[in-house]
Amino acid sequence: MPIDLSPEEFRRLGYRAVDMLADRLAQLHDLPVRRPVPPDLREKILHQPVPEDVTDADTLLTTIQSDILPYPMGNASSRFFAWVNSPPAPLGIIAELLAAGHNASVAGGDHAATYIEHAVLNWLKTLFHLPSDSGGLLCSGGSVANIIALAVMRHVQAGGNMRAHGFNGESAPMVVYTSTQGHSCLQKAIELLGIGNDYLRRIPVNDRYEMDIAALQAQIAADKAAGLRPVCIAASAGTVNTGAIDPLNALADICEQENLWLHVDGAYGGMGILARPELYSGMERADSLAIDPHKWLYMPVECGCVFVRDEAKMRETFSVIPPYLRDDRDMPWFSEYGIQQTRGFKALKLWVVMQQIGIEGYRDLIQRDIDLSKTLQSKIRHHPDFELTAAGELSITCFRYAPAGIAAEQLDELNRELVLIVQREGQAFLTTTILNNQRVLRVCIVNFRTTDADLDILLAALADAGQRLIITRSM
Ligand SMILES: Cc1ncc(COP(=O)(O)O)c(C=O)c1O
Repeated sequence: MPIDLSPEEFRRLGYRAVDMLADRLAQLHDLPVRRPVPPDLREKILHQPVPEDVTDADTLLTTIQSDILPYPMGNASSRFFAWVNSPPAPLGIIAELLAAGHNASVAGGDHAATYIEHAVLNWLKTLFHLPSDSGGLLCSGGSVANIIALAVMRHVQAGGNMRAHGFNGESAPMVVYTSTQGHSCLQKAIELLGIGNDYLRRIPVNDRYEMDIAALQAQIAADKAAGLRPVCIAASAGTVNTGAIDPLNALADICEQENLWLHVDGAYGGMGILARPELYSGMERADSLAIDPHKWLYMPVECGCVFVRDEAKMRETFSVIPPYLRDDRDMPWFSEYGIQQTRGFKALKLWVVMQQIGIEGYRDLIQRDIDLSKTLQSKIRHHPDFELTAAGELSITCFRYAPAGIAAEQLDELNRELVLIVQREGQAFLTTTILNNQRVLRVCIVNFRTTDADLDILLAALADAGQRLIITRSM
C-alpha cells in the first residue's frame, strides 16, 4: 500500500472525514452526552495486534465511524459540565486539519507559521495588559505552561546559576506558595523542577476560597526564620474547584516587598478578564502567567499558553543553539523559550477563531457562561433538594443533593453515587470534588452550546437519580 495518496483520493477521503464530523455535529442534541465503551469493543481495541497486514483507508474511516466517534469524552455536548473541558469551536477543527496539512514545525525560522504564532501571542499580550516585549509561547496546555513559567522563576531566583550547577550552588531550599485550592499541576511542576513538594506551601483560604493573606505572610515569616528561601507565589486566577481568584494586587505587593516572583495560573479563569476585568486587578503585575486557550477560548485540544514579563530571562532559561540550528535566525526561535524543539502549528486555530468570533464575541460568550452559572445557582437556591456550597464569580458552581430526612453522614456517599448514575445514563456529565471535607457536585460551564433548558435537565436528572438511590438503599 503506497503511503502517498493521489490528490483525488486525498480529496475524497478528506470529504468523507469532514462528513463524518458534520454528522456528529448534526446529531449532537439527540445523543447521550457520553456512553460507555461496550466491554467487547474495549477488549478489541486494547488487544488489537500489531498491524503487519495493510488495511485500506476507507475501512479505517469506517472503523473510526463505528468504534471511536460514537464514544466521545462528551465535551462537545451542551450538557457536559465536568472538569474544565469546552467544546471546540468548529472552525478551530477545520484549522487543525489545515495546520496538520501545512505541517510546519514552529521551532522558529522564516516561514508563515512562525509569524502567525507571534501575531496571536501579541493579541493575547494586549488582552492581558502585558508589555508588548514580554516573552510568550504556545504549548500543550496549562500544566506545561505552569512548568515553563516556574522554570524561568527558578532560573531567575537562583541568580542565573541553575543551568550550570543545578541546586548544588544554592545555600537554602527554595519555597513556593500557593493556596490549598492551587491546581495539582503546580505540585507536578514543583516536583519536576527539583524544588520538592515539601517546599510547596498550601496556604489556607478564606470563605470565598481565595488565598488568605495573613496566613501567607505568617508562613513566609516562619520559613525565613527557619533559614529557608521564599522565592515565588503561585497565585490562581480561577481555581479549578470554585473559580476563586486570589487577591492579586495584595499578592503582587507582597512579592515586591519580599523579592518574590509572582506567577499567576489563569489556565481556567484567565480569559474571564474579557467579561469581568474588575476581578483581575493586579494580574498585569505578574512576572509570569499561564493561560489555556483550549478551555475558555474554545480551542480544540491541545492549546496552552505561557507569558513571562522579562523576555530575556525566559530565553536565558531555555536557549541552546547547537551548530546545526544556526542558520535562518533573523528572530529568536520559539524553541529558545521552552522545552520543545519541533513544535506544532497550534497558532493557526487561535488565529482563525479569534478573528471569526472577535473579542467582543468572546466577551459575550464568556459572560453568557457566567450568567448561566448564576441562573443555575438561583435554581439550586430555590430547589428543596439541593443546597448551594460555592457560587464563584466565574462559571463554576458547587452544590449538594441533600433532601430532607437524609442523615448528614450519608450525603458524601449519596452524592458520589448520584453522579456515577447520571454519568452512566448520559443525560448530563458532571463530576464531584471535595470542599471543606465534603463531597460536592461541581458544574463548570465553559460551553457555548449550553442553554437554560440544559440546566433544568441536569437538575432533573440529579434529583431523579437521587430519589431512585434513596429508595433502593432504603435511606
Ligand atoms: C486552574 C488550572 N490550572 C491548570 C490546569 C491544567 O491545565 P491542563 O489540563 O491544560 O494541563 C487546569 C485544568 O483544568 C486548571 O483548571
